[in-house]
Amino acid sequence: MPKDFFSHLHDKKTPPTYKFFNGEAWMDGASSKTVEVISPIDNSLVGRIPLVSNLEIDQAISNAKKAQEAWMRVPMIERGKILHLAADWMREHEHYLTALLIKEIGKNTPEAKDEILRSADMIDYFAHEGLHVKGEELSGEAFPGYDQTKMAIVEKVPLGVILAIAPFNYPVNLSVSKIAPALITGNCVVYKPPTQGAISCLHLTEIFYLAGLPKGLIVTITGGGAEVGNYLVSHKDINGITFTGSSQVGKEIAVKAGMIPLLFECGGNNPAVVLPDADLYSTAIEIVKGAFSYSGQRCTAIKYVLGLKPTIDKLIPMVSQKTKEFIKMGDPRIPEINLGPVISDGEADIIERRILMAKAQGAKIIMGGKRKERLIEPTILDLVRPSMEIMQIETFGPVVSFLRVESIEEAVKIINSSDYGLQASIFTSDEGAGIQLARQIKVGTIQINSKPQRGPDHFPFLGVKGSGVGVQGIRYTLEAMMRPRPIVLNKPH
Ligand code: G3P
Repeated sequence: MPKDFFSHLHDKKTPPTYKFFNGEAWMDGASSKTVEVISPIDNSLVGRIPLVSNLEIDQAISNAKKAQEAWMRVPMIERGKILHLAADWMREHEHYLTALLIKEIGKNTPEAKDEILRSADMIDYFAHEGLHVKGEELSGEAFPGYDQTKMAIVEKVPLGVILAIAPFNYPVNLSVSKIAPALITGNCVVYKPPTQGAISCLHLTEIFYLAGLPKGLIVTITGGGAEVGNYLVSHKDINGITFTGSSQVGKEIAVKAGMIPLLFECGGNNPAVVLPDADLYSTAIEIVKGAFSYSGQRCTAIKYVLGLKPTIDKLIPMVSQKTKEFIKMGDPRIPEINLGPVISDGEADIIERRILMAKAQGAKIIMGGKRKERLIEPTILDLVRPSMEIMQIETFGPVVSFLRVESIEEAVKIINSSDYGLQASIFTSDEGAGIQLARQIKVGTIQINSKPQRGPDHFPFLGVKGSGVGVQGIRYTLEAMMRPRPIVLNKPH
């Protein structure tokens, strides 16, 4: 039974209290203080995770540092073998991990399964691509005044201790996207999982060790962001931070972390521009998928749609129709359900309030708008204006807003005045016009005729403005986990 592999991660009680991994062993928190992990599906207690103390964090980071010194000398191909084994492990135990993810964060089965399998593929891809990371040799003579007196051997070296902070919406996948590139390039990882998703993340940690990872290379620190997170981000021994989460938290971390390399993917408030020549049938389907998959709790979800009046007039009934056809709300454990609860009561309160505020300010609820506990109906708002809060702050729920603009220039102006800049979609039957328009929009990635999305995972993935720092995507993430070390040979005069 796969479960036996993980029985040492928790005590024998039901629901269990989990341990954290300090680099040497699975440990109970010294203080016995714990944080509850509550299932968004039925409010049940999935388990408790330790609130790790600062002293325990110091010890774990010291263990990780020691392990990293040896690890950076292990041949890349040997490091890769361990990663491939971890990927195989995930595939083999996909059912177990999927069930855990469903319970802990309320994904439906296809979404949870996809997260696990995508993570295994990602680990393999990082391990392969790591072999192609190489330094270079530069000659000084290319720059005037240096003749042949200087030559640089530019080595690529690991940053050292990487702090990886993952969010609840892809606790496994957005951990793997940090841990795998860090390890293959010779770093160690101080890993802070989200509270909801933490139990899946503890299992992920153990999978790397079951695959043969030497002790200490991942230390997994559980606890709340306010206590544990704050201490970690300003810890003197952290050499780089990779984080996915809200723009607000990203900005706070950047201030506390100071002058170390940062790789952040933060919130998106992603627009879709629909040009008059777009195929409205397929556009409507993409909007429904983009706005409502995993209940809109994706940084890449479509949050608002802009178009000229005749376009939006035709599009809204089609989007409503497709929402009725495709989206079934309820308990995500039921096979036909594809829109489950949002992560917590607190988040549901925020989403509900934003919908009601928009309505009070003149928006029209075309569909949805109601809430039952953590279930928010798929909601379509019309007559939304850029000044409304729902347009200004990312709303992590199944809500999409429609705006009528006088011109496409006005649409560009609205998008570019946003504090966010992750992705945007353009729908048109003229790809040339789509490319021209894409060049005017200030976001990381522009999708033509598709919803925004991160994958395929080797494409560059980045946000501008409040949406991120640095570039991810297999090769790009590997580069970000290393620094060049030029060793300059000087010919005596
Ligand atoms: O951080 C990115 C995540 O929220 C969305 O990823 O793959 O659903 O586009 P994806």
